[in-house]
Amino acid sequence: MSGFSVEWLDLRETADRRARDAGLLAQAKHWLRGDPSSDGRATIVDLGAGTGSTLRAFAESDDFSPNGIEWLLVDQDRPLLAEARRRHGRSHAVETCELDLAKISDLPLACARLVAASALFDLVSAEFVDSLAIHLETLCQRQPVGLYTALNYDGTTDWAPTHPLDDAVLEAFNRDQQRDKGFGPALGPDACGYLQRRFVEAGFKVSSAHSPWILDGADRSMMTELITGIAAAAANTPALDSDSLEDWLEFRLDKVNDSSCIVGHTDMLALPRGDST
Ligand SMILES: C[S@@+](CC[C@H](N)C(=O)[O-])C[C@H]1O[C@@H](n2cnc3c(N)ncnc32)[C@H](O)[C@@H]1O
Repeated sequence: MSGFSVEWLDLRETADRRARDAGLLAQAKHWLRGDPSSDGRATIVDLGAGTGSTLRAFAESDDFSPNGIEWLLVDQDRPLLAEARRRHGRSHAVETCELDLAKISDLPLACARLVAASALFDLVSAEFVDSLAIHLETLCQRQPVGLYTALNYDGTTDWAPTHPLDDAVLEAFNRDQQRDKGFGPALGPDACGYLQRRFVEAGFKVSSAHSPWILDGADRSMMTELITGIAAAAANTPALDSDSLEDWLEFRLDKVNDSSCIVGHTDMLALPRGDST
């Protein structure tokens, strides 16, 4: 188990779906269909797939047929993968692979046309990104492969109404985001900037776009979980005393029906340079 529940992933998915950059998603779909030697077939390997939210994001639009698309969903969390199979095993060509992504040389990437991930890369380390970039660069010498990564947290939150401790809580939260999540020190808010630099260096053409969560009183269940999660993470760092944090938490929960919050994320698409498809 990874600590990510089906309930939390379901709760955030509506906001994730609204947030994903439609242009990059369309380009990723176009890339999948662009291999003239593939007979219309393509494999997407989704890293940290959870219950299959990336599959659902691709499948939701009318212009994307599941025909010929094979999904390989990789995660270390067996119950999440079982839920993904239960939801999509009949309607899509789905295989699951239970694996710790940190074992990067074991990743089943050989057949991929596209490697995908959502809400994953802020958990990983710089070393993981370095290894993945080298791995994909090497694979590209045999057959071109792209990387689509959505919803990488960028370290910003913007609350209305404001509270005097918003900045201090954010600083403590962001520090906690860099704690080791199983890959070495996590990139946290630096994830997308690091991905972009590393994949440009590895010879990919990189595009990125903002994909913020935009939450208001209609998202109160998710916002409640978010506020509680931010406070719990901020409590892991000594920067804030517990009374101040409690004050912030009470204020935020009390105002949840009448607040808005923008949480910054970035999506990125890296495609092999020089490939015209
Ligand atoms: C924030 S969730 C995102 C899930 C899904 N991509 C989504 O957007 O709903 C992060 C996912 O990464 C998986 N994960 C985290 N660390 C992992 C690791 N070391 N190996 C494999 N999966 C991991 C978790 O189990 C979880 O499903």
